[in-house]
This record gives sequence, C-alpha cells and structure tokens, in this order.
Amino acid sequence: MSRNSKEKGKISWQSPSNIALIKYWGKHGNQLPCNPSLSMSLNSSVTTTTLSYNYKAKDKNVDLEFLFDGERTPLFEKRVDNYLNNLLKEYPFLSDYHLIIESSNTFPHSSGIASSASAYSALALCIMSLKKICLRDMDRKDFFQGASDLARLGSGSASRSVYGGYTIWGEVEGFTNYSDEYASPLKSTIHPVFHTFYDAILIVSGENKKVGSSAGHSLMEKHPYAKSRYQQAMNHTIEMIYVLETGNLDRFIEIVENEALTLHGLMMSSDPGYILIKRETIEIIERIRKFRQTNKIPVTFTLDAGSNVHLLYPESYRKEVIKFIEDELVALCDAAQWIDDSIGRGPKLLNIQ
Ligand code: DP6
Repeated sequence: MSRNSKEKGKISWQSPSNIALIKYWGKHGNQLPCNPSLSMSLNSSVTTTTLSYNYKAKDKNVDLEFLFDGERTPLFEKRVDNYLNNLLKEYPFLSDYHLIIESSNTFPHSSGIASSASAYSALALCIMSLKKICLRDMDRKDFFQGASDLARLGSGSASRSVYGGYTIWGEVEGFTNYSDEYASPLKSTIHPVFHTFYDAILIVSGENKKVGSSAGHSLMEKHPYAKSRYQQAMNHTIEMIYVLETGNLDRFIEIVENEALTLHGLMMSSDPGYILIKRETIEIIERIRKFRQTNKIPVTFTLDAGSNVHLLYPESYRKEVIKFIEDELVALCDAAQWIDDSIGRGPKLLNIQ
C-alpha cells in the first residue's frame, strides 16, 4: 500500500449500458477492436456497483467477495476474480485490500440485455476511484480514459459506457483523437435532434444466447467477409460522424439499419453459421419500416447480439411512437416486456467515503 492510500472505504458508481450504431464485431490481441464502433449511452439501463475495500497485508492474489443482487454468485465471482488478477501488474494496489464488490442492474436478468457493458464500466470506474485515492490525485481526462481502458479489458463494448451521449472506440482514418485502447466522447458538435433520441428496447426473448459474444468475435478471424466488413465499418463511422453533426436523419436510418443487418448477416455467414434473430424480430423490423413509410416518421431499428430490437426515434414523435408500440409491437414482445430508454448523460459517482 502506498503511504497516501486509505485503510478502508467504499466507492459506488452507476454506469449505463450503451447501444452501438456502428458495431464492434471482431477483435484481436488483448481486447483490441478490428474496426471503430460508435454508440449511444442509455439513461435507464444501468448497473450500480459498490466496491468496499479494507486494508490487509499484501497478498499474491486478489482477495474478493462478489455479490450480485445481494447474493454471492460463484460464476460472476470467478469472472471478476480473473479480471482483477489479470490487472495486478498495472494495478498492484488491488491485492493490498480485502475487496467486496456488490452489483445490481435496473433491467431484469431475464431480458436478454447484455449487462457486460454497464457492469464492467461501473467496476472499472470503482477501480479508478480507488487508484485515484491511492495516488491522491488524477486529472479528469486521465481518469475517464483509464476507466475506459480498464472497462475494455473486461468487455469491449464496456469501454464506450464511461461517457454519456455518443462515443467512439477505435482508431478512425483521418482523425487523430480516437484510440483502440479506450473510447472517447464524439469530438464534433452533435445536431440537436440527436440529443433527444429515445431507445425503446423491445424484448423478444430473455433466453441465454446460443452463441456468446466472445465466440462470435472469434468466428470473425476466419470469416471470408472480414476484410470488407472492417472497411465498411470504418466508412460508416466516418460518415456517421458527419451525419450526427448535420442532423441527416435519412442517412442516419440507412446506416443504422445496414449495420444491424450486417451484424446478423456476419453471424449467419460465419463457419459455423448461426441465427440469433427470431420470427418476432423480423416481424417487428417489418412493422417499423412500414410505420416509417406510411406515417413519414423517422423511426429506425438496431439489433444487439441477440433477438431484441432497439427502436430509435427523436423525442418530437414520442406520442405517436408509444402508441405504435402499444398497438402493434407489445404483442410481439416476450411477456409484453419493453424498456422505455433514451440517450443518457453517462456514469454517476453515487458515493465515496
Ligand atoms: C454486437 O463487448 O459483448 O454488442 O469484448 O467479447 O465482451 P466482448 O464483446 P462485447 O461485444 C459487443 C458486440 C455488439 C456490438 C457492439 O456493442 O458494438
């Protein structure tokens, strides 16, 4: 333990999930992305994590208790234990303490929503706060860059959750300020319409995924379309930066839907190929497209690595879209579940003592 560090204390962060508009799909080395991705941080789908630390004599390994929703969960504990032990070289103070980590999500466990982005970003922020205490100080930029880098090592998409609004992870041709190691908030000005976006998460299935993200990423290594996919994602990212600046909703919709369908196209054309979308996913997509055409309302959809549909729309159409969801889409959702989410302002430090 450094001379400056504290004997014991508690740190709590709340951190959001995010929805990728340009998808991260394919990684190499130590959790580095094969292409840039761009996401919107959410407001209500969040994880709250509390890290309690109590000084003890230094040990070789991390000494950890992990609780999810107030209960000891051996599976998660093992994962977090491995994650923290792998960080020891760079964060040696982690083995100076007995650590208790308590975590919970606002979204139901059975919703099929990936919690790794909010979970690892909340945990990474707690670890950075402990580092800041040990060092006595750290500037704001270093703090969030460090947290994003740490979150990335737990789960790639988590690197983007340490900021609110729109975030980019991965180097972008022609821009010097984006990195493969950590995400950054979008540097350009965002058109006001994109500050008002809502995300209705339509829960098609709460089942566990047949093929997890890590297995999916590794199928990209020998994927026949990998090279052109990575170039497409690069082009989409560059264009999306411009679209978010100018407020071009038509082009926004085209790129977002193409990214979602490409992601699932890549899964289907992997070897072995697999299908995560369900009949209801396709039905919802078709209804969204029809609603847009008939009513001239700029709604669009994206998909994560599962069967759920994220329906994205600007606030000015909220009344019409909620009615559309209730009249046409709820019946296609698993147990009529959907989450009324929107663009969020990023993580919150809830408590530090
Ligand atoms: C389809 O971040 O879950 O949601 O780095 O292996 O934890 P790991 O993968 P993960 O992959 C997310 C994939 C995605 C697209 C995205 O969020 O960009």
